[in-house]
Amino acid sequence: MKKALITGISGQDGSYLSEFLLSQGYEVHGIVRKASSFNTPRLSHLYVDPHKGDVKFLIHYGDLAESGQMTHLIYNLRPDEIYHLGAQSHVRVSFDLPEYTGDITGLGTLRIMECIRRSGIKCKFYQASSSEMFGAAAAPQSETTPFYPRSPYAAAKVFAYWTAINYREAYNIFVCNGILFNHESPRRGETFVSRKITRAVASIAAGLDQKLYLGNLKARRDWGFAPEYVVCQWLMLQQDRPGDYVIGTGESHTVEDFARESFAYVGLDWQDYVEVDPRYFRPTEVDHLCADMRKARKELNWSPKVSFSELVKIMMDADLRAVGVVPPGQGEKILKTKDLNWIQGSDRPGGSDAHGSSRSIEVTSS
Ligand code: NAP
Ligand code: GDD
Repeated sequence: MKKALITGISGQDGSYLSEFLLSQGYEVHGIVRKASSFNTPRLSHLYVDPHKGDVKFLIHYGDLAESGQMTHLIYNLRPDEIYHLGAQSHVRVSFDLPEYTGDITGLGTLRIMECIRRSGIKCKFYQASSSEMFGAAAAPQSETTPFYPRSPYAAAKVFAYWTAINYREAYNIFVCNGILFNHESPRRGETFVSRKITRAVASIAAGLDQKLYLGNLKARRDWGFAPEYVVCQWLMLQQDRPGDYVIGTGESHTVEDFARESFAYVGLDWQDYVEVDPRYFRPTEVDHLCADMRKARKELNWSPKVSFSELVKIMMDADLRAVGVVPPGQGEKILKTKDLNWIQGSDRPGGSDAHGSSRSIEVTSS
């Protein structure tokens, strides 16, 4: 049985990747930070009490700022594959916390690469690189487009990208960079713009709110559906040779488009509710990201199945349900047609259990 170790397992991608790997028969280990409050709602439905038998999903405390525990885990678990998804991942926040972001998002990767090298463990490594690294480079962007980072987050990801490549070349470690464009889902963090919009529209539709304040409405992003993207993370590590891949849809839309589609889904006009608040502007913006993903299409035989408007409907249905409104249901129907039956939790195709159960996870080593 293959063993995987995931950093950032409590995040959007980490939770989907766990479900996908479990469906493939993996034993899945993940690293979570110690918090005084409940920080594993995306994972609760996967937790099985180790006293009840053969457990395939185990959580350990760790922090990307601390290499001792990481070395200990890698050496003792001896994973076949490491998926490094942990990061301070919010671009706007990185302007407020540049040093912290450099430490966790940039040096965090170096710390893990060094643990792998020093432990001598033969494992494959996935680095969660980002389309943000392209920054001001003209769209569409491919694996050969030069980087032009526009935030401390993007600069840290460029450092991590080249660190990963250096360890591949210097120490012959099987390392892949997935250069993923924005991907969203009902599990997306609530302050990223897609989820901020769908939650606000749901609240407004439920009569709980009146306005949605946003920043730059003209920025264009290539938005895809997160569960499809975690499959690519796995696919990269299943290739004969390591490589770096751009993953996106090849279509871009503005923030305004996202708001328009979301409001229209519940029969509202976005212009009646959205106001611009300059507090959400960034000191330097990334205007246009759009993937040229021909390499992934050819070598990984991958292409996205969920379109932009389908993504909006999937997210809207989930957020409407979360505020107690019966959704139009188009998104739920769409999900059932996409061959993603490995998804667990409330956004499972046809699933109905509560999203984000409040059951605590017991950390294996505590
Ligand atoms: P996310 O939801 O923000 O998850 C980030 C994860 O990193 C969380 O589990 C978080 O733990 C963990 N983390 C943060 N600081 C940490 C620390 N000091 N030590 C250990 N863990 C820490 O991000 P995501 O959307 O799943 O994205 C996954 C990865 O892909 C990230 O590296 C992100 O930068 C990158 N990426 C994302 C996208 C996208 O569109 N989603 C696109 C390209 C690249 P807590 O739950 O405790 O905060
Ligand atoms: N968050 C946020 N909040 N963004 C807003 C808002 C707002 O109120 N109003 C407009 N925007 C614009 C931002 O200025 C940006 O141009 C765009 O919406 C998308 O912002 P986010 O959803 O925060 O995502 P991001 O593109 O900055 O970063 C995400 O994608 C990257 C991949 O390109 C994150 O997931 C990164 O971790 C990831 O690497």
